[in-house]
Amino acid sequence: MRKLDNLISGYKVVEYEEVDSTMITLKELAISGCDINTAVWAKKQRIGRGRHGREWSSPEGNLYLSFLRNSENDKSKNIFAPVFIVAIVIAHSIKDLSCNNIVPNIKWPNDILIKKAKVAGILIENISLSESFNILNIGFGINIVSNPTNTLYPATNLKTEGIETNSKEFIKAFFKNLKSFEEIYIREGINEIYRIWSLLGHKIGEPISVKIGEKKIFGSFNGLNKDGGLLILDDAGIEKVVMAGDVFLL
Ligand code: BTN
Repeated sequence: MRKLDNLISGYKVVEYEEVDSTMITLKELAISGCDINTAVWAKKQRIGRGRHGREWSSPEGNLYLSFLRNSENDKSKNIFAPVFIVAIVIAHSIKDLSCNNIVPNIKWPNDILIKKAKVAGILIENISLSESFNILNIGFGINIVSNPTNTLYPATNLKTEGIETNSKEFIKAFFKNLKSFEEIYIREGINEIYRIWSLLGHKIGEPISVKIGEKKIFGSFNGLNKDGGLLILDDAGIEKVVMAGDVFLL
């Protein structure tokens, strides 16, 4: 384990060769009282995990990072804000690293896509430090040089899409953008974040389906509600709110 010096002002990024999951390592550090501005970066993960209990394939060459966020600092206490902010930050970091050649899309709530294939995923977990004090453990994986092929959703990687970068460069771009978009959120609030998300997210009327457990709803995207829930107009013309599920573009 070593600390990455001079990489990101204000953030302590602790680098590991291999861990089970950066989510687990960071949770252990948080429980043992580490600084809130701590991040864990691993070159490989043995048991990388994704949303809905799925596995996140984690070979060397791609980026696996988790960082902490103090939810108590969130003035408006909008618990959905980080879900959208981190997606925007990753999409903009990819755009910056491609010299504005590639503008990724976001699949609700926070999968990052290039040409309809997933290039990055985000996982947010709660860490309870005491009965009344929670912090967020925010992990993301970026397919930098490779991607799995046996996935629920088609996947790609930055190299295949013509973006030559590496984990260190990505981490720098990420924390720079995180600072900018968190400032926008503090200054202008969650509606501005939803607006920026919408520029990269689904378009109103876009045909989608949502898988919720064993059930699948077909219809068209009809916007976000105030809590960031997905609004889908189903094939019978009835609007439904989805707070958790897998979206597929049709
Ligand atoms: C998803 O299913 O889309 C979320 C994937 C999140 C993967 C990242 S990689 C870094 C961190 N450590 C993990 O075990 N998972 C997250």
